[in-house]
Amino acid sequence: MPSPTRSKADPPIRLLAVAGARPNFMKIAPLMNEFAKRTSSFEPILVHTGQHYDKAMSDSFFRDLGIPEPDVNLGVGSGSHGYQTAQVLMKIEPLLIERKPHVVLVVGDVNSTLAATLAAVKLQIPVAHVEAGLRSWDREMPEEINRVLTDSVSRWLFTTEAAAETNLLREGVPAERIHFVGNVMIDTLLAHRERALALDTVERLGLTPQGYAVLTLHRPSNVDSPDQLRRLFEVLGRLHAELPVVFPVHPRTAKAIEQHLGGAKPKLLMTAPLGYLDFLRLLIDAQMVLTDSGGIQEETTALGVACLTLRDSTERPVTVTEGTNTIVGTDPIAIEKAIEQLRRSPRPKGRRPALWDGCAATRIVDILERDLGNF
Ligand code: UD1
Repeated sequence: MPSPTRSKADPPIRLLAVAGARPNFMKIAPLMNEFAKRTSSFEPILVHTGQHYDKAMSDSFFRDLGIPEPDVNLGVGSGSHGYQTAQVLMKIEPLLIERKPHVVLVVGDVNSTLAATLAAVKLQIPVAHVEAGLRSWDREMPEEINRVLTDSVSRWLFTTEAAAETNLLREGVPAERIHFVGNVMIDTLLAHRERALALDTVERLGLTPQGYAVLTLHRPSNVDSPDQLRRLFEVLGRLHAELPVVFPVHPRTAKAIEQHLGGAKPKLLMTAPLGYLDFLRLLIDAQMVLTDSGGIQEETTALGVACLTLRDSTERPVTVTEGTNTIVGTDPIAIEKAIEQLRRSPRPKGRRPALWDGCAATRIVDILERDLGNF
């Protein structure tokens, strides 16, 4: 829907932005910041679904990243996939009817993303999806289902890398809906890098720059099986004996450790989940990062830090082809080999992918302003 340039007399575009879980918060932050600069064009409404609700998983991100207080918190909390998705659907629908946004903006691939999208499109409200088109080709991942379904009904598909556009075109999405804009998560990283550098996180944990590894684990493929978890911690424990491994523990993983290992603590430097700035500080000076997260593969690529991804696939292939990421799978023997190899290699030389330049949110909001100018 191309339109003429907006005039001052036009009413602002009512845009309802949705964030629900930790990886959403760093994506929504630069977008909210951009809307705040354009109050004559946009009237943003921020909805927190409450999928993540802890201080450590949610509140600290709002504070550290300067995200405005949500206008509404749906308070859905934890539960099975069906329960969580249904709760968001049920609770957001009356809000959409009451507030009548011109557009709903969703980010990433969590249950809240899909549920808010479904509720909006059923009410004929167009959806803009930020981070569209990523595909791991692994339908056992709940996030993959969320991505495919969200993309199939979104009006604007904002992509972070070239492969995403290819995937969407192959699925029959009309080319004019797809916009390669770069990576909003890297907007946040670049905006907060200096603040993170000023922190003493590395020293506080008794570590030295380049003298430690960072580990995160929360995917069902790694933490839901007692055997897998035990074998992983054996390998990682051996690494820790040579190179300290800092392990901020996700609540789902903490539960799994308690349940599957009878509370026997892995021999690693375990911490509670860290805030955004402390975690970024650790990434910057890590010798290597081991993770099953999606976002951390991108953050390490942007920082030029070696990353071993403990999964069988990635939906973010540019982090491998251009960045510093290696997909090593979930087999503990293969992981140990990859660690040994990396310990012997010089620091990897990746390059920052196209448009991961700190301006993705500006590009997105420009496009929405242009297309929605004449609603
Ligand atoms: C969700 C996302 C995943 C993302 C991850 C980042 C989906 C399908 N998954 O997975 O894509 O990578 O967030 O963290 O949406 N919990 C707390 N406090 C909280 C939130 C959760 O203690 O603030 C605990 C609960 O016991 C809950 C468990 O963590 O049962 C898992 O949380 P949930 O949101 O269901 O999924 P994640 O595994 O975090």
